[in-house]
Amino acid sequence: PAAALKDARGRPLHDLRISVTDRCNFRCVYCMPKEIFGRDFVFRERSELLSFEEIERLARVAVSLGVHKLRLTGGEPLLRRGIVDLVGMLSQLKTADGKPVDLAMTTNGSALPVMAQQLKDAGLRRVTISLDSLDDARFKAINDVNFPVSRVLQAIDAAEQAGLGPVKVNTVLKRGVNDDEILTLAEHFRGTGQILRFIEFMDVGTTNGWKLDAVVPSSEVVSRINERWALEPVVKTEPGETANRWRYADGAGEIGVISSVTNAFCGNCSRARVSAEGQLYTCLFAGSGFDLRALLRGGADDEELARALTGRWRKRDDNYSELRAALTPGNRKRIEMSYIGG
Ligand code: GTP
Ligand code: 5AD
Ligand code: SF4
Ligand code: SF4
Repeated sequence: PAAALKDARGRPLHDLRISVTDRCNFRCVYCMPKEIFGRDFVFRERSELLSFEEIERLARVAVSLGVHKLRLTGGEPLLRRGIVDLVGMLSQLKTADGKPVDLAMTTNGSALPVMAQQLKDAGLRRVTISLDSLDDARFKAINDVNFPVSRVLQAIDAAEQAGLGPVKVNTVLKRGVNDDEILTLAEHFRGTGQILRFIEFMDVGTTNGWKLDAVVPSSEVVSRINERWALEPVVKTEPGETANRWRYADGAGEIGVISSVTNAFCGNCSRARVSAEGQLYTCLFAGSGFDLRALLRGGADDEELARALTGRWRKRDDNYSELRAALTPGNRKRIEMSYIGG
């Protein structure tokens, strides 16, 4: 039975993160630095990407094994041509107990003012939007393509108005880059119903120049906000959730902190990831994946796909974030953030 699927550490498979493209229209300096992702960088050809039919099949099989959350990622997922159609297909999927799957997307927001309503109408439930600074010059320096912050703020409003809320806003903090904006950001989103989440900068991939010095520990974020506006912990509703949640004691809403570096959450990690070309990764920090596309294109039926997923998941014993101190800086091969979508 589906409920029995557990990995080697007893963790169930609840979430599938599906990357639909390795491309992005931003060049965030900590994710797709221009020195590497420049004009001559070779992205995957369209024929290499899973088709919508292939993605839908994979998702359907994963849902039959207990997955109840699907998150579309990139690169930038809204750059994938026809993405609204894919959302339409995935939103039809039902879990074993007949509920619609929880279909979400993590996006930089740039296309949302145009696409939010179509996405909602196609069945998308929620979006998470990345926003690292409220200061226009600084935001442009981070995205490195001169994209104005006002348009991301518009995107957040557009998503909210389309019914894709409550919108989560992801801020990756880097020491000396944007840690002076913790209170400004908190103040901006307090009382809006939008959920601001501060993320510890992680050593994903090998091109983002990660250093432990650059990590702003979540404990510091919480204590700084708490000094200004009292915070109370909120109990997680999903055991495998990435964020630790806090609410403002005065009722102005909630924030989250994602502490993969200082407080690893591998113990409950129930996420699998599929790259745009159909590689299955059981950890964000994995060095290699399992080629689901070969199975899909080799004529495997749903049962074979289910067996492959089940087999990989049963063997899974990943807990990179718990081991980080011992493994970093290593020369291990690691997938890039933009390739797997976080
Ligand atoms: P919700 O389902 O809304 O809670 O979203 P999420 O937090 O799972 O997804 P999102 O794409 O917003 O990711 C937020 C941050 O958490 C990003 O920096 C991700 O890279 C990071 N993250 C998500 N899942 C994992 C994980 O399994 N391990 C680690 N180490 N980081 C993760
Ligand atoms: N550490 C933490 N979060 C990161 N993101 C991108 N790179 C990193 C990193 N090195 C964030 C993006 C997006 C989410 C999917 O991951 O800003 O919000
Ligand atoms: Fe920035 Fe996200 Fe694009 Fe990476 S994928 S460059 S974090 S917008
Ligand atoms: Fe899951 Fe790997 Fe992240 Fe740990 S490091 S929470 S196992 S994806």
